Amino acid sequence: LEQYVDQGDPCPARLGQAIRYSLLGPGKRLRPQLVLLAAEACGSSVQVALPAACAVEMVHAYSLIHDDLPAMDDDDLRRGRPSCHVQFDEATAILAGDALQARAFEIVAREIRPAEVAAACCAELARAAGAAGMVGGQADDLGAEQAGGGIAELESIHRRKTGAMLAVSLRLGALVASASRCDFDGLEAYGTKLGLAFQIVDDLLDLQGDEAQLGKRTGQDADRGKLTFPRLLGAPESRRRAERLVDEACQALGPLKGTTCGLEQLARYVVQRNH
Ligand code: IPE
Ligand code: IPE
Ligand code: MG
Ligand code: MG
Ligand code: MG
Repeated sequence: LEQYVDQGDPCPARLGQAIRYSLLGPGKRLRPQLVLLAAEACGSSVQVALPAACAVEMVHAYSLIHDDLPAMDDDDLRRGRPSCHVQFDEATAILAGDALQARAFEIVAREIRPAEVAAACCAELARAAGAAGMVGGQADDLGAEQAGGGIAELESIHRRKTGAMLAVSLRLGALVASASRCDFDGLEAYGTKLGLAFQIVDDLLDLQGDEAQLGKRTGQDADRGKLTFPRLLGAPESRRRAERLVDEACQALGPLKGTTCGLEQLARYVVQRNH
């Protein structure tokens, strides 16, 4: 990430500082790990998957900057530090997010070989990050603060706002590894289950987590009237659901031919985590 983030001279200093601040801050790096582990599970190497892994983390970092803006969740704490717009200013934060997104696609296009695989990765990443994926999910997440909704609506929001970026991480790992159809399908099923479980746990941590451990404010979802799993199903049932989804995610790895213990460990961590 450190190597790919710097864009040389024409980048204004303050913008560059905001980009580095948000990208290199202490996140869990789950999405890039998914890219690397998927590539390994499909018989390729970490080295080959690194550009895609960094690109995915850049899109994620941009999504967090924008998610925290006053017009969205209005959160002042991220990864245990002031949110980007608090540390810098709103305009700089918006532009840092924009730049991170653009940089991600530049890296995929330039660094992934052959060109057909780079193009396929660009298309997948754009689809997952865009209006039919993460950004669309974010729009409906904000809309549901007023409109509310049931479990089907909530699942649809979570699958897009969070699940889409987790699923595409696995897909990019599979693409750079020239995975077989069977490996693709196994990873797709794993990613869909894991993505939903991940956001259910995020909702639970907002309700029950410790602000210092979490590095972000708690109780925000209830304050803003967010549609969440604990709100609709209660905390115990939400946790059971997340655990069941992770079991199913791990089962979906069965048909894969390569090593999948890292993916299994990561899925278990997703429900056990406290941040
Ligand atoms: C937080 O994601 C935003 C959601 C999609 C729920 P992470 O919990 O992966 O955040 P970092 O990258 O570790 O800070
Ligand atoms: C954010 O979901 C998802 C994206 C950033 C795309 P949340 O709003 O629940 O994430 P946190 O809790 O602020 O990290
Ligand atoms: Mg949000
Ligand atoms: Mg938020
Ligand atoms: Mg949250």
